[in-house]
Amino acid sequence: MNNTKNLKIGILGAGNIGKTLARKLAQAGHDVKVANSRGPETIAADALEFGARAVSTAQAVEDVDVVILSIPLNRIPRIAPLIANLPAETVVIDTSNYYPHRDDKIDAIEAGQVESLWVAQQLGRPIAKAWNVIGSGSFATKGKPAGSPDRIALPVAADREKDRQVAMALVEDTGLDAFDAGTLTDSWRQQPGSPCYCTDLSREEMPTALAAADAVRLPKRRDLAVAAIQERVGDGTTNPDAEYGIRLSRALYM
Ligand SMILES: NC(=O)c1ccc[n+]([C@@H]2O[C@H](COP(=O)([O-])OP(=O)(O)OC[C@H]3O[C@@H](n4cnc5c(N)ncnc54)[C@H](OP(=O)(O)O)[C@@H]3O)[C@@H](O)[C@H]2O)c1
Repeated sequence: MNNTKNLKIGILGAGNIGKTLARKLAQAGHDVKVANSRGPETIAADALEFGARAVSTAQAVEDVDVVILSIPLNRIPRIAPLIANLPAETVVIDTSNYYPHRDDKIDAIEAGQVESLWVAQQLGRPIAKAWNVIGSGSFATKGKPAGSPDRIALPVAADREKDRQVAMALVEDTGLDAFDAGTLTDSWRQQPGSPCYCTDLSREEMPTALAAADAVRLPKRRDLAVAAIQERVGDGTTNPDAEYGIRLSRALYM
């Protein structure tokens, strides 16, 4: 893979984030396949509107340049056998975040392991971390062409240079500024509860936000947000409306 145009991309997960990834990456000219856990016939038609194809999970990771994981973090071990068969040079990008109320408690992360390092460990290979800090409402509706004023920026973390370059190019293809946030070890600064998390910041605001993250406070702030959302929408899995989510995240995390 010598460039980042017209890539073959397989997406595992066709929910709030995976569906928008399938739409935007197909619209940007990539060859996109998308799979969920229940089978291609259950994938919503709007995910396929711009040419992405619904496939099985095995087909999604077959003969692709890039695999994007957009499934709940606690499902990562279940798809590890599929990822284990990929060539070393395939770029794997993960969008996941740890929510103990949803994902069950994961002792290593509770003890302080960086979420992306836990994911890389489960998969036994390097990954890039991207698209984890944008709420699904903003992601579906707020992308803009490069150079637009107030374009939303997302941090991208990776350990391999190729993973970083490809992930950053694909973030740009989804209508967002890609910001190099360093290594996976540093990526705790973009976890839930951090100042850049679901706050729709610009590229100019990103360095200060990443530097201001305070590791001890992130889980407390994440759990406060979950409690506020549960009080409002009545459960722990429905996403709040986008503007409420941004107001809440800015108030709690910045
Ligand atoms: N929602 C947000 O605003 C947001 C923002 C940024 C990042 N994220 C993160 O991105 C990830 C996806 O979030 P989401 O909101 O899109 O989740 P979601 O709406 O619950 O969708 C999850 C998707 O994963 C699929 N899936 C689950 N297990 C699978 C497996 N073993 N193989 C293949 N597909 C599987 C599900 O398929 P089935 O329905 O068939 O089970 C579903 O399509 C999560 O880790 C989340 O923390 C979410």
